[in-house]
Amino acid sequence: MVSLKGKDILHGNQFSKKEIDTIIKTAGYFEKALKKKDSLNLLKGKILATLFFEPSTRTRLSFETAMQRLGGGVISMASAQSSSAAKGETVADTARTVDQYADVIVIRHPRIGSAKEAADAAEAPVINAGDGAGQHPTQALLDIYTIQKELGSLKGLRVSLVGDLKNGRTVHALVELLSLFGAKLHFVSPSALRMPEAIAANLKVKGIDVVETEDMMKAASESDLLYMTRIQKERFEDLSEYERVKGYYIIDGDFLGKLKKKITILHPLPRVNEISPEVDSYPGAAYFRQVRNGVFVRMALLSMVMGKALD
Ligand code: NCD
Repeated sequence: MVSLKGKDILHGNQFSKKEIDTIIKTAGYFEKALKKKDSLNLLKGKILATLFFEPSTRTRLSFETAMQRLGGGVISMASAQSSSAAKGETVADTARTVDQYADVIVIRHPRIGSAKEAADAAEAPVINAGDGAGQHPTQALLDIYTIQKELGSLKGLRVSLVGDLKNGRTVHALVELLSLFGAKLHFVSPSALRMPEAIAANLKVKGIDVVETEDMMKAASESDLLYMTRIQKERFEDLSEYERVKGYYIIDGDFLGKLKKKITILHPLPRVNEISPEVDSYPGAAYFRQVRNGVFVRMALLSMVMGKALD
C-alpha cells in the first residue's frame, strides 16, 4: 500500500499510478461512507489551516467541508488583505507561523512556486491549492476521479483541453496525471494562449500523442472528453488582449447539435461564458458532479497526508 503520510502535495508530476489508484479508492470509500453518515471521526482533534491569497469558492469550501466531514477543525485566513501579507510578511514566514497552529496547511497564492516555499518553511504537510499560473494538483486529482466515474476508465482516453492553456493551472496539473494513462491529447487554444512549451515537450518525451489546434469542433469530434477552461483574465498584463480572446470558445446547444455524438464535458469552474447554461441539462455535462467529487477526493488527501488512510 502506498503512503502519503507527512507528504506535501505540490505538483501533478509527483504522483505514481499506484498513488492515484489509492487516492481514487480512498475517495470512493468516503463517497460511500457519507451516504450513511454525515461525518466521520478520522481526523478528530486535527486542525486544517486554509490560506487563500487569491479568490476561491470551490477549492476552499470543499477543503473545509472535507476536513469537517472527517471530524477535524478548520482555521481560515479571511483574505490576503486581512492577513499580515498586507504588511509585507513573506509566504515562508506566514507558513512557519501557521505551522504552529495547524496539522495540515492548504495554500493558494498568485505566484508560481509559492506553495513550495510554504512547504519548505512548514513541518506540517502543505497542499498547493493553486500557485499562480503554475499547478493545481488537487483539482487535477478530482478531475481524474470524475473521469473514472463518468467514463469508467482512465486508459487511453482521447481528451480535448480547451481555452487558456497558457495560464490555466488546472490543465497544467491534469495533463501530468493523464500522461500516466496513455492519453491522446488535443490542446485547443488561441495561438496566444498555447500550452507552455516545456509542458508540451515533456509530454512528447513521455510518448504522449499531442495535437495542437485552434479548431474545437474537429478536436471534440475525435475526443471522449472535453475539458473546458476559463480565459484567466487576472493573468493578462494587457486587458485589450483579454478582450480579443475572451469569447473564443463557447459550448452551447448549437455546438452540441453539430457535434452529433455524446461527449463528457468537464470544467473546473468558475465559468465565465465558455459553457452556456442550456448545456447544463445535457447528460454528459458533468461539471457540477465534478464539484461534488472534490469533497471526497479532498477527504482522501487530507486523511492520507495525516497518516490516517484506511487499509
Ligand atoms: C480554478 C483555479 O482556481 O485555477 N478554479 C478552481 O479551483 N476550481 C480554475 C479557474 O479559476 O479558472
